[in-house]
Amino acid sequence: ALALALRAPLLLQLATRAGRVVGQLNARQTSAMNVANAIAAETLRESRAVAALGARQQVVAEYRAAVGTYTDVVAQTLLAETVLRFTSLLIKSVSEWVLLVWGLASVRAGRISIGLLMAFYAYERKFSQGTVVLQNMALELQSMRPTCARYFELLDREPRMSYNGTVPRTFHGEIELRNVSFDFAQHGLASDAAKRDRRHERADEDAGTLQGVNLKIRPGEVVAIAGPSGGGKSTLLLLLLRLYDPNGGQVLLDGADLRSLDVAWFRSHFGYVPQEPALLDRSVADNVAFGMPSPPPPSALSHVLQLAGADAFVDALSSGIDSRVGEGGRSLSGGQRQRLALARALARRPRVLLLDEATSALDAEGERHVLAALRTLNATTTVMVAHRLSAVLSADRVVVVVGGKVVESGTPAELSTAGGWFQRNFFPPIDPER
Ligand SMILES: Nc1ncnc2c1ncn2[C@@H]1O[C@H](COP(=O)(O)OP(=O)(O)OP(=O)(O)O)[C@@H](O)[C@H]1O
Ligand SMILES: [Mg+2]
Repeated sequence: ALALALRAPLLLQLATRAGRVVGQLNARQTSAMNVANAIAAETLRESRAVAALGARQQVVAEYRAAVGTYTDVVAQTLLAETVLRFTSLLIKSVSEWVLLVWGLASVRAGRISIGLLMAFYAYERKFSQGTVVLQNMALELQSMRPTCARYFELLDREPRMSYNGTVPRTFHGEIELRNVSFDFAQHGLASDAAKRDRRHERADEDAGTLQGVNLKIRPGEVVAIAGPSGGGKSTLLLLLLRLYDPNGGQVLLDGADLRSLDVAWFRSHFGYVPQEPALLDRSVADNVAFGMPSPPPPSALSHVLQLAGADAFVDALSSGIDSRVGEGGRSLSGGQRQRLALARALARRPRVLLLDEATSALDAEGERHVLAALRTLNATTTVMVAHRLSAVLSADRVVVVVGGKVVESGTPAELSTAGGWFQRNFFPPIDPER
């Protein structure tokens, strides 16, 4: 009896050991499935690019390989589970068999009665069934582990920033960046390649996306941010929206650190047009009103559509402002998407307008119309990232950002003869040889 009782912990040991292996295999199953799903989702989202670039076969092969990895892991898991179940069944059957043989021998020798043997045998079966149930539970728990681990990881996440803060009574729209430094790597966002590069750069103390930026913008001022690609212009706008906090220095709004203010409050006064217009598969009207506490009345809606130069094409759509724009605004042209994104920013009657290349996809005429319309919003502080001379010239002041630093600041007229990046790029000397 003792020998049989000892068998139970042995079986459970086996179950937990093997269960751990099964658990690891289950975790690999989940991640293999995620890889395959990510390829499928990306391919469907970018189906046009996939077709145009002739990448069909490549993605099919990649997907097939990912699914192959997944099915391999599934097969391994099943094998491990089968081996485990078979081994424990074997232990169970062999021991029962030994019990019967030994018991019958004992009965024959007259050491125990047949009744006692039968009773013991029945108890033993009940007991081993219990062990099997425990073993199956151990396996089941292991298979749920990766999903549960991920689930609890998400539940335990703490927001990086607090959204609560003070709500000042007034809003003027003065913006200041005071010695602001920012590094995506410190937010865990840099790509692996960028991280590797950074490690070599670390000797250079102030490496980062933005480095010691000082900039003060008066209420109502229109400031253009110019500079080479990758210089940090878009990042600067993200910091103004407090989508990230700086690693060093302060971003101030009307003299108050952004971190001390209620995030929902100040963002409700901001209008933002990102470099890539983010449209949703909803109607034109719903896209414009997206995120607003209440949708703008029809007159306000048509006013902002007109300011953004979107009225003509929206009127031409089959259902006007009720027409859906498709996923990401697919059914619109690039310039139309941009106009809609502008209308959305203006509909909030922003006191601070942040435009990231917001007129880059417009034709010259359309851009002139929008820039002139922006000029009519007198009380609005405007920060616009711009690559085109026409947009830059419409600003009160130009700030040039190169390599994460402000290298020039002044009126377009001043900078056009200052001999710096601005003049070199927008007013290059005419080569008489050509
Ligand atoms: N989400 C991100 N994660 C990691 N690095 C990023 C991220 N976004 C931007 N960067 C890096 O930060 C730097 C500045 O990028 P940013 O988008 O601000 O440039 P930009 O001046 O707006 O350029 P462009 O004129 O091409 O729009 C780049 O080197 C870029 O690789
Ligand atoms: Mg940019």
